[in-house]
Formats: sequence, structure tokens, C-alpha cells
Amino acid sequence: MRLSLITKLTIATGVILLFFMALFAYMNVATIKSILLTSAISDADKLSETIIKSTHYEMLEDNRKRVYEMMEEVGTLHGVEHIRMINKSGFITFSTKKEEIGQYLDKNEVGCSMCHTGREVKVHVPMMNRSRIFTDRSGKKVVGLAKAIYNEKSCYTAPCHYHPAKQNILGVLDIIVSLEEMESFLSYFRHKIGILIVILIVIIASVITYFTHRLVNVPVRNLLAHTRKISSGNFDSYVPYSSNDEMGDLTDAFNKMSQSLKSARQELEEWGKNLERKVEERTREIKEIQNQLIRTEKLASLGQLVAGIAHEINNPLTGILMFANLVNKNPKLHDEIRSDINVIIAEANRCAKIIKGLLDFSRESIPQKKPSSLNVIMDDTLELVIHQAGFHNIKVSKDYAQDLPLINVDVNQIGQVILNMLINASQAMPGGGKIDIKTYAKDGYACLQISDTGIGIPEEHIDKIFDPFFTTKSSGTGMGLSVSYGIIERHGGKIEVQSKLGEGTTFIIKLPLS
Ligand SMILES: Nc1ncnc2c1ncn2[C@@H]1O[C@H](COP(=O)(O)OP(=O)(O)OP(=O)(O)O)[C@@H](O)[C@H]1O
Ligand SMILES: [Mg+2]
Repeated sequence: MRLSLITKLTIATGVILLFFMALFAYMNVATIKSILLTSAISDADKLSETIIKSTHYEMLEDNRKRVYEMMEEVGTLHGVEHIRMINKSGFITFSTKKEEIGQYLDKNEVGCSMCHTGREVKVHVPMMNRSRIFTDRSGKKVVGLAKAIYNEKSCYTAPCHYHPAKQNILGVLDIIVSLEEMESFLSYFRHKIGILIVILIVIIASVITYFTHRLVNVPVRNLLAHTRKISSGNFDSYVPYSSNDEMGDLTDAFNKMSQSLKSARQELEEWGKNLERKVEERTREIKEIQNQLIRTEKLASLGQLVAGIAHEINNPLTGILMFANLVNKNPKLHDEIRSDINVIIAEANRCAKIIKGLLDFSRESIPQKKPSSLNVIMDDTLELVIHQAGFHNIKVSKDYAQDLPLINVDVNQIGQVILNMLINASQAMPGGGKIDIKTYAKDGYACLQISDTGIGIPEEHIDKIFDPFFTTKSSGTGMGLSVSYGIIERHGGKIEVQSKLGEGTTFIIKLPLS
């Protein structure tokens, strides 16, 4: 069974209060009982004394009848249960209970044994020791008190003179007084004190419960509710300051804790986001490097093959061209044949151009690097093509970083790359468009960005455009970008491409600044 803090406190307080109050009540009742009993015994003693004194002269005159009448009178007093007179032999000479007159009492009886201990008879016994408390035949609680009647001088010198002078005690007056009044008072007192204890316990327990509820239970419940909110992720939960005590300190500490938790969670979230971003970045970099490696490997193996074939074809091709030119120079040549020979020369030139491209690609010539301005290389290359037919409907805009540091590059090779890019851009915009050229420095690279508003590259082609012989053009060799890629790679740089179908393409050439 789960008990609330308040219930436990109330029960504990109630039990402790009950124990101490019961102890207090018991001690009180016991003290009052002892006082009342002593007073009852003292009253009985005084009564005995009064009877003995008031009957003294009647006894001296041996007027027993008068003495017994007086005792009879006293016996009718309220609270006096029984009076009897016993002589030294234990003979009951008088009793308010007539039936016991003339009987003998044994020395061992309760009322006699207090003085008749052993062989000697105690003459002077303290009042309390002469008393006895018992329940009489009718079930009433009573106290009996035996008082010795001493043989005074006036007794043994009296005219009747029954008793010798050396006799100490003539007899005993035994009075039995009811304790009913005392008992009823005690029971009334017990009842009153019981009620008082119950009222006190109820009041004290209620006061403690009320203050515990206000000072402990309410703030603790409040804190509990806010703790639940925090555990469900609501770190904005703020507990209002309750009081200037330990509860207030706890509230303060709780609010600080929730704030720390909140900032710790924010840090953790931030950290998680950072990590995610970094992982994405690294993954992209790894993928790029992987692609680069594949491409490099592909290009290297292809390069060897192509170099061999190109070299083998170049020699016979040179022969064909030389002899075709020789034949063409013959003035006697028939016009029809001349025209055929021109076709042979044109096609052979075309083949030579392809072979040249293949050789450029495979040669992997070591760049002749010198500090150069990327802006100047760009301008010089643009100058070569800008007046060509393909660029007539194209608007070119430039945005150069003027403070771009010189870079160590082979001007011819970089010019060739830029030329490829510009021609590709113009070919992607047959109906005209715009080319935006931008140079800037970023992350240790001098960057050249060439954007066109052409047809764009379909997503499935993006990974292939740098492959040798990949072309979507009927007259293209597909060698332009693969050659460019090789050149930039040999310069320690990279080429990036972004394209959206129907909107345009952007190539970024990145060359190391140092
Ligand atoms: N600016 C661009 N816009 C759209 N597509 C492009 C662009 N640049 C390149 N491409 C695509 O990439 C392919 C490969 O280009 P690359 O320069 O290597 O060869 P090519 O231009 O087809 O042939 P060549 O360069 O011999 O004339 C092109 O065929 C084209 O599909
Ligand atoms: Mg091209």
C-alpha cells in the first residue's frame, strides 16, 4: 500500500502524541489516585481518633452502651461502611454488623497482620501501614484502617479498673470507609483526560498536517509536476519561487538544473547537426575522390592505348595527306578528281585533328608552369573565340576578383581548358544566350567560374562527361573535357560542374593558389 508523505507524517505524529499523552495521563491519574487514597485513609484515621476521644469518658465510666450507641451513630455517616471494636484477645466486642459481634478474629487476618507480625505486637505502626484496601462482599471498593486504643493513665486508674497498668493496648478500633466516591471521581477524571487527549491529538495532528501540506506537500507536488514536464522534454518548465527556506533553495536549484539541461540538450543537438553535416561533407568528398580516382585510372590506361594507336595511325595519315596534297597540286588534274582529292584532304585533316586530340590527351605533357594571372589567361582565351560565328548571339559578362594572386600554371594548357569550356558553352546555346565569367579566391584555390544559359546536362550524363569519347554531339570527339580534366589534375586542381536541364551549366575550375 502506498501512503502519501502527509499520511505517514500524520500517523507518526499521532502515534508519538498518543504515547506521550497516554503516559502523561497515566502519571496524572496515578498521582491523583495516590493523593485521594492518602486523604481517604487520613479521614478514616481522623474519624477513628474522633470516636476514641469522644468515647473516652464513657469508657472510663464503663458506659459501654453509650459508647456503642455513639459508634452506631457514626456508622450511619455517609461513606462509613463498617465500624467495629476488637479487644486484645481478638474478640469483637462491637460491630455495626451485628452478626459478627462475639466472634474472634485470627491474628493472621488482613486487618490484624499489620501489627501482629511475629511474636511481638507492634505498638506504633504508621497510618499508611495500618490501612488495607479491598473489595467487600457487596463488590464495593473500600479502605480499612485499624487504630489501636492505648491504655492511658486515666484508664488503668479509672474506678472500674479492668486493665493492668503494664498493658499497652486495650483493643483496636477498625473502621472501613467506602472508596466509591474516589473511584467515581477517578473515572470522571480519566474520562475527561481521555477526551482532552483525543481533542489535543486531533488539533495538533491537524495543525501539523495543514502546515506540512502547505509548506512541504504543495511545493513538492509542484516540483514533481515540473520534473515530469522536464522528463517529457519540456525544458522551459519554470517553477515559481515558493518560500525563503530550504524549499525555496530546492526550487532555485531545480530551475538552474532545468536551464543547464536545456543548454546541454541544445549543445547536444547542435553537435549532432554538426556531426551530420560533417559526415555528409566527408561522404561527398570521399565520393568525389573516388570518382576522381576511377577517372584518373581510366584515363591512364586509356591514354597508353590511345597513344599507341594514334602514333600508328599518324604516320600513314601523314603519308595520305602529303600524297593527296601532292596530287592536288598537279595542274592537269581533272576537276572532278580534284574535288574528290579535296574531300580526301578534308577528311584526312579531320582524322588528323582527332589524332591530335588523342595525342594531347595521352601525352600527359609536364606543364611548363610560371606565375600567371588567371584573369589575363581568361581574357586572352576569350579574345580568340569572341569574334567567331558561334559567339555572335552570346552576351558575355565578367566579374573578376582584381586582387586575385598570381598562380603557378602552364598558360597554354590552362588556355586550352578555358577554350574547351567556352566552345562547349556556345555549343549548348545554339540560339544565343549568356556566359557569366567570374574569378575569385576560395579555400586556397583560385577559382574560375564559367556559367552558361544553355541546354544543361541531364543528371545521368554528369558522371560521364569527363570520360574520353563521351559526346552528345554529332561532330564531337568527346575528348574536350577529358583532356581538360587531365590538365587541371596535373596542376593539382579540380573541375566541378553544376547543371540544370533547360536552365544552364556552370563549370568551376579550381587551381591551387600556392
Ligand atoms: N556547357 C555545356 N552545356 C551542355 N552540355 C555540355 C556542356 N559542356 C559539355 N557538355 C556535354 O558534355 C559532353 C562532352 O563534352 P566534351 O567537350 O568532352 O566533348 P564534345 O564537346 O562533345 O566534343 P568536342 O569537345 O570534341 O567538340 C558534350 O557532348 C555535352 O553533351
Ligand atoms: Mg567540347
